[in-house]
Amino acid sequence: MQLISGAAVAEKVLEECRRDIAALAAVGKKPGLAVVLIGDDPASRAYVRSKDKKCRDLGLHSVKLELPASTTQEEVLAHVHALNNDPAIHGILVQSPPPPHIDEAAIVRAIDPAKDVDGFHPVNVAKLALEDPTGFVPCTPLGCQRLLMDAGIETKGANAVVLGRSMIVGKPMALLLMAKGPGGDATVTVAHSRTQDLAFITQKADIIIAAIGRPEFLKAEHVREGAVVIDVGINRVEAPGTEKGYKLVGDVAFEEVAPKCKAITPVPGGVGPMTIAMLMANTIKACKQS
Ligand code: GUN
Repeated sequence: MQLISGAAVAEKVLEECRRDIAALAAVGKKPGLAVVLIGDDPASRAYVRSKDKKCRDLGLHSVKLELPASTTQEEVLAHVHALNNDPAIHGILVQSPPPPHIDEAAIVRAIDPAKDVDGFHPVNVAKLALEDPTGFVPCTPLGCQRLLMDAGIETKGANAVVLGRSMIVGKPMALLLMAKGPGGDATVTVAHSRTQDLAFITQKADIIIAAIGRPEFLKAEHVREGAVVIDVGINRVEAPGTEKGYKLVGDVAFEEVAPKCKAITPVPGGVGPMTIAMLMANTIKACKQS
């Protein structure tokens, strides 16, 4: 069984980013990312802080906008318009989920698609479906594809099953795997909460991408011998007696699934570190295309 280290592959991606940043500096360009947080959700705050820190570590220009939960839709839109028009900013990310009074879809549509490093804008969703390489692909599925490629997993002709149909992971993941070329050319099945007889489907999978947000959902009975499993889940479960009182587990019951696998990602240390690395890579791509 091969344990796929997201931390190691993420470091490789960041090394490529450092080379790109140096090359851009030589022509007087510095990639800039703006991260917008509305409200004070602790998990979102932690994500935003780590994105900002990674930017600064790499020497990217980073702007962190922390807006109170009382911020109105119009005020958020005004911030987005200002960032769209700021030549020092190449990437804009509005942390999801915003407070309930905010119309998130309208905010995403207001972001200049050329600065939409999350890949959530309808123009970028369309570009992914069209296999247009100038578009931006959501960071988490892009990171999963990179993990597969770096681990030497052949996707061409493979039966890939994506668990989950979200716009952030499941749908873009399925499009990436079915696209023509390296990291694609797979036969893709998308399963979700309404799928009947899930095990029948997943037992035929050479590659399983688990992105359903349910702790340790995928069990040994779902997986055939020799499968490759990528675990996108990050779930907090209670762990009495530990320092924080909780622990992080994936969507895969790792202990029972791992022994059957050809390769598997751990949680933490699997897909997680890749998401931020791909965000940096997308910001550099936006700068290069500007
Ligand atoms: N919240 C959880 N994941 C993401 C992400 O990839 N982008 C944004 N904007 N918010 C998120």
